[in-house]
Amino acid sequence: MKSVKDTLLERRSTRRYERQEISQSNLNLIYAAIRNTPTSYNGQQFSVIDVSDQETKIKLYELTNQKQIKTCNRFLLFCADYNKISTIANAKHIEMPQFQHTVDGVMVGIIDASLAMMSAVVAAESCALGTCCIGYARTAAPTEIAKLLELPQGVFAVCGLAIGVPREVNDLKPKQPKELVIHRNKYRSDDMSNDLLKYDQRIIEYNASRSGATSKNDWASHIINYYREAMNYEMLKALQLQGFDLKK
Ligand SMILES: Cc1cc2nc3c(=O)[nH]c(=O)nc-3n(C[C@H](O)[C@H](O)[C@H](O)COP(=O)(O)O)c2cc1C
Repeated sequence: MKSVKDTLLERRSTRRYERQEISQSNLNLIYAAIRNTPTSYNGQQFSVIDVSDQETKIKLYELTNQKQIKTCNRFLLFCADYNKISTIANAKHIEMPQFQHTVDGVMVGIIDASLAMMSAVVAAESCALGTCCIGYARTAAPTEIAKLLELPQGVFAVCGLAIGVPREVNDLKPKQPKELVIHRNKYRSDDMSNDLLKYDQRIIEYNASRSGATSKNDWASHIINYYREAMNYEMLKALQLQGFDLKK
């Protein structure tokens, strides 16, 4: 098993996998890490759909165009979940407040599901498995994916995670320097442009020289183009269809 330091600092997304099963003991560790995730109020407002069925993975690939989903050994879909608490509220005749109709209710579900995904990433990476988070599992076809995986009302997909035995080791991507990430006691008030431009240049150089497919992409316009694409997502409608009728 890798050290915590190597697990965290050597992690990079892996998008190509061997056709090898993940061992049951590794899967058990991943499940245990997911279950022990810290969650808001200990409410555990999340569930995970573990997709091992190849036909379902292929359908998910067709909906998202993310090849990793069909080639990974396990595809885990992390969902925000208010179905379980509603079910027990019903069984115990407790009146259920409509928390899922509030922005904070949605945030709580997203935070819990995201932390659970990170638990899975760390557990899997510590076993020398490769992982790739897949946001397109939320954005590409939310209604069709909810239908395919039979997500009930009160449950929506937050993010997918592909896991498998790695067939590639990508270069580590340079991240923002700590001066841009860690603010001391309060948010930085000086002009960050120079630090940001330096980081942008670092990414241009990385993209031009990395192993595998190189590109001329910079950081800022590349990310901003993603935002432009994301402006077209119909997330509010997708949330409403899953029973999250945002009111405040
Ligand atoms: C919430 C989230 C969603 C992501 N969605 C995708 C995705 O749909 N497809 C993909 O190939 N990578 C996806 N990624 C991986 C990022 O592209 C990757 O983490 C980022 O480029 C940094 O590279 P690194 O993970 O190798 O450090 C996602 C990552 C996160 C955290």
